Parts: sequence; structure tokens; C-alpha cells
Amino acid sequence: MKSDWLNIALPKGRLGDIVYDMFAKAGFPCPSILDKNRKLIFENEEVMVRYFWVKPSDVAIYVERGAADIGVVGKDVLLEYTPDVYELLDLGVGKCRMCVAGEAGFRDNLDRTLRVATKFPHVASKYFSSQSRDIDIIKLNGSIELAPILDLSDVIVDLVETGTTLKENNLVVTEAIVDISARLISNKATFKFKNEQIERLCDGMKELLTEEK
Ligand code: PRP
Repeated sequence: MKSDWLNIALPKGRLGDIVYDMFAKAGFPCPSILDKNRKLIFENEEVMVRYFWVKPSDVAIYVERGAADIGVVGKDVLLEYTPDVYELLDLGVGKCRMCVAGEAGFRDNLDRTLRVATKFPHVASKYFSSQSRDIDIIKLNGSIELAPILDLSDVIVDLVETGTTLKENNLVVTEAIVDISARLISNKATFKFKNEQIERLCDGMKELLTEEK
């Protein structure tokens, strides 16, 4: 392993494409990543950078364990799993909100335990316990919006971006929990060992973010 290279875990998908563009503009381009193929690792020897495409919810694991030095991850993942990493920058992309939602007209009956379906059991438990509300968590992995419709749960805790998924399933936001966006994270040890590259990357990113304002 070339130890002075910067290893960057990118979240596969639309957000990954957007943030790769930011890394390239910030001085860490890797043109081969734009080739349409199924490869997962791309390198640019000239600037000594190596990118990996990783499932978005796995990025923090790669960074926490040092398989990647740097990564991009939603704040939702950081709040849910609290990985032991440094959160370096808010990249201002991938913006959405973590919300409680239910069927239009749903009224919470405080005499009953509230059934909450979610991909984010930790965030949901913390939120409702701050409201002193007893809940029963139903952990799902996707299509959370189905749960109240099929009476699997009373409400959901989920990410809302455009609101289209809720609307098309006759659900409404009842409470907003927290604003979410993509964050640049770093492994704690390599932040020290590769500090020069990481600082250079952060400076480049900060410049981009101020230009956009
Ligand atoms: C996310 C989220 C909502 C949807 C919100 O799901 O869990 O379902 O996007 O977006 P919107 O407000 O713009 O409609 P995702 O697409 O990740 O799929 P999932 O159902 O597998 O979680």
C-alpha cells in the first residue's frame, strides 16, 4: 500500500458524483473515475489520490477503521452510528431533514406506546426520549413510508428531501428533528500522519464553498 497516498471513500450514487466533482475542483482530480464501468477503485498517481465507491451507510466504517483516510457521509449516519472520526466540514450538499411523519390527520394517543418505524433507531429513540414519549421502535431498511399505511407503525422517522415520497403516499411531516447535509470526515490517526494533504484538501473545499455563496 502506497502510504503517502490519500485514500478517499465516496458514497456511491448521485451524492457521490456531486462530491467527486468538488474533490476534483479542490485539487484531487481522478479522471478515470468518470469512465462508465463497474470498478470500485480509481487512482491518480499524479496527485497521489485513490478513490473507492462505497455504500453510503458504510463510508464511516471505512474511515473509522482506517481503510480510508477521508470520506463523505450524511450527518444522519454520523448521528445514528456516532463513529469515532473527525467531522471536518459541512459540504452543503445532500441537504434534507430528519422528520417524524404520519398519515394526514393522525393524532397521537398519549395513553398508548407510539409505534415508530425507522432506519434510524438511535436518533428516533433519543428524540422521543427528549420528549418523554414512550415508543416502540420498528427497525426497517427502506420504503419506510409503507409502515403507517399498512398499520405496521403509527409514525415514521425518516429523511425528507423534496417531500415527494411523503406526498405520494398521503403522509405529512408532524415534527422536524434535525437538518442533514453531507460532511467531510477523517480517520483520527491519519489526520495527523497525512495532515498536509488533508489540510490542502480542506482549504480547497472551503474555497469552493465560499465561491458558491
Ligand atoms: C429516502 C428517504 C425517503 C426519500 C425522501 O429514501 O428514506 O424515503 O428518500 O426523499 P423525497 O422527500 O425527495 O421524496 P431512499 O430513496 O434512500 O430509499 P429507501 O426507501 O430505500 O430508504
